[in-house]
Amino acid sequence: MTGQELEGGIAVLDFGGQYAHLICRRVRALGVYAALLPHDTSLEELSKARVAGVVLSGGPASVYSDGAPEAAPGLFEGSIPILGICYGYQLMVRAHGGEVRRAGRREYGRSRVKVVEGGGLLDGLVSKDLACWMSHSDSATKIPPTMQVLATTDGSPYAAVRLSGAPQYGVQFHPEVSHTEKGQDVLSNFVLGICRARKTWSMEGFLEKSVEEHSKLEGRVLCAVSGGVDSSVTAALLARAIGDRLQCVFIDTGLLRKGEGDRVRKHLGEELGVRVAFVDASDKFLGALAGEPDPERKRETVGKAFADVFEGFARDRGPFAYLAQGTLYPDVIESGRSLGPASVIKTHHNVGGLPAGLSMRVVEPLRELYKDEVRELGALLGLPKAVVEAHPFPGPGLAVRVIGEVTPEKLRICREAGAIVEEVLEEEGVHGEVWQAFAYVGDDLVTGVLGDERTTGRQVTVKVVESVDAMTADWSRLSAPVLERISSRITNEVAGVVAVAYAISSKPPATIEPQ
Ligand code: XMP
Repeated sequence: MTGQELEGGIAVLDFGGQYAHLICRRVRALGVYAALLPHDTSLEELSKARVAGVVLSGGPASVYSDGAPEAAPGLFEGSIPILGICYGYQLMVRAHGGEVRRAGRREYGRSRVKVVEGGGLLDGLVSKDLACWMSHSDSATKIPPTMQVLATTDGSPYAAVRLSGAPQYGVQFHPEVSHTEKGQDVLSNFVLGICRARKTWSMEGFLEKSVEEHSKLEGRVLCAVSGGVDSSVTAALLARAIGDRLQCVFIDTGLLRKGEGDRVRKHLGEELGVRVAFVDASDKFLGALAGEPDPERKRETVGKAFADVFEGFARDRGPFAYLAQGTLYPDVIESGRSLGPASVIKTHHNVGGLPAGLSMRVVEPLRELYKDEVRELGALLGLPKAVVEAHPFPGPGLAVRVIGEVTPEKLRICREAGAIVEEVLEEEGVHGEVWQAFAYVGDDLVTGVLGDERTTGRQVTVKVVESVDAMTADWSRLSAPVLERISSRITNEVAGVVAVAYAISSKPPATIEPQ
């Protein structure tokens, strides 16, 4: 079984830059397949795969430092079109006899690029003065006579260059980030204009091909569904491919968001006809967690209980030939991954600690996709907005949003208050713009007044964060009226809560989840 072929597509060589994945996504957004490959992938391999072009990503190293990642020998002597970005550009300049030095002035953040010549790469942008994103300490300080300047910035006289005699281009700025004005035009000029790459990448095409490939799977497939985007899309796709031979299981841990089970029942079970078994294991999970205040031990306890219940189900309802998982592309990229079509299936035993008797092969239908592509695929499969735009939810569930011991009362407060936060943001039209929005609760009791009486109750903390990849996050500057609505609904509707706080810490130093 094969994945998307790279023939006619773009190979992005990964020099360790934080935006390497983003380059792939931007190219795919042009309808061209792009895959991230190791930085030292050889010219021979690239030629054999018949790629239309190569993009060299940025990277944190200095081209002169020990152990700095190098391109494969001869890469710059071939005829495949190349676009070097930042570090990739510096390697290109050096390979052609130019000079790269530590810049007198580090350029980081927004800068202005002045386009002096189109040269293919910057066609349509000549004489423009564009905002661009820079992030480099080294700079090309001298370019060889074979290179021509296409653009400059105040800090870089060689902000974009072209090589004569071969389709090679370099940019010191990052066309892939959204802060670079017309960055997508630059990529489009390279990918579609210079490389003449084939527009074979579309979600409709992916879906059709994937359904056809997975329909050849023999035997039954087991898939745990949580109500989250990845597992729901995995299940919906496999159900379309193999129908009733897919068995999904939804394990109610008692630690889930409000209405999670009902949503799975409705959207996967009823609307898409996916066969889903519901296992109520909440007593087992809550029993195992009782009396345990330590965050790490709570996580371990939930993980172990999950494995127990899942294994029990697989044994009772098996045998299953395959275990389906919603692994995404960024998770499967490992150094040393060979060029060539991604294999959709790999053999794994004892995945996630499954006992040897339960060995199943792993099938990962989403392993070529990015998160936003998965959402698009989910919509094509008929999953509603409530599922495809669901916020991420941690594996240990509300156990990490209840500070201290997990008790039924604190769980109820956390679940009800969290649902209110999400509902209000949905009504205000901002749910889709934030990364996560939830409530957490601890053991502290605060004083309140109810009617004329003083009373004590819980204080709930509301947390709404913005993020791109969860590595860093910032608190969302919600308007006062929105905060006011959230606060008054929680204190009015959730019994036992008398006060609401809003978390205004970024990550770092705080993490997104409170535990
Ligand atoms: P933190 O709290 O580390 O979380 O800033 C980063 C992102 O990961 C999610 N998260 C988890 N997801 N299992 C998961 O599947 C976990 O144990 C887990 N812990 C945190 C969190 O919701 C956020 O999106």
